[in-house]
Amino acid sequence: MKIIRTVDGVREAVREARAQGGTVGLVPTMGAFHAGHLSLMQAARAANDLVVVSLFVNPTQFGPTEDLDAYPRDEARDAELAEQQGVDILFAPEAAEIYPDGFATTIHVSGLTDVLDGAARGAFHFDGVATVVTKLFGIVAPDDAYFGQKDAQQVLVIRRVVRDLNLPVRIHACPIVREPDGLAMSSRNVYLDADARQRAAALNRALEAAASVHEAGERNAAAIVGAAERVLADAGILPDYLELRSNDDLHPLETVDGDALLAVAARVGAARLIDNHVLKGTR
Ligand code: PAF
Repeated sequence: MKIIRTVDGVREAVREARAQGGTVGLVPTMGAFHAGHLSLMQAARAANDLVVVSLFVNPTQFGPTEDLDAYPRDEARDAELAEQQGVDILFAPEAAEIYPDGFATTIHVSGLTDVLDGAARGAFHFDGVATVVTKLFGIVAPDDAYFGQKDAQQVLVIRRVVRDLNLPVRIHACPIVREPDGLAMSSRNVYLDADARQRAAALNRALEAAASVHEAGERNAAAIVGAAERVLADAGILPDYLELRSNDDLHPLETVDGDALLAVAARVGAARLIDNHVLKGTR
């Protein structure tokens, strides 16, 4: 595996692979790899000739009071794990390589980014994500790109950018990878102390409780969300949001009759965690 730090270097390596007729898969990451990241690399490896993993803690998607400085970083460990997955290129640029002096362009997706994490964190978050991912698509020009379904809203935003800007890349959303007690894998789980770690499992239990109520035939959104709220309250967790929205354009639902996204964000101890379940519609 090659570690490349420049845009020109990655472009050159991709050009060589393409000259031999190879397909290119990209896994955009911010590092601190866990089994969720590794599953994205495995999916990319299984389907592409050249696999590029980007490792860049993107400053523009963090707010001034968020955890940019504390975000876990261990490039040597990440490189070893990526190599074990058969990744060909780890693209690990410095911030100035991605945002040179005078950088002035932002990709903003209206509507989809006004709700859930866009409302809770601020519009800057998805602007930062959409802009850096669009840049990565421009730099690597992948055929396929792989993202985790844990960041369900991020996936919808990126799909919209790709559709609206006619970007020639297929987006794959890979299943959430969970700890044995159901906690969704996240680089931010390292912030949890023992008590918070135990309570954090309530997020998935809450989503499962809501899913069971839905499976039993309940279609009223408030009743479904209520089942999840009770589990969170029992664990002493007050969510930033716990909402049931359509799984395409994120409009709020009163009645669930198609696919619905039940999304939660909550601060548990020192970590802000997100998770979601897609409730499958019968329409
Ligand atoms: O999901 C992430 O790790 C980041 O938001 C991404 C897609 C790599 C953009 O910085």
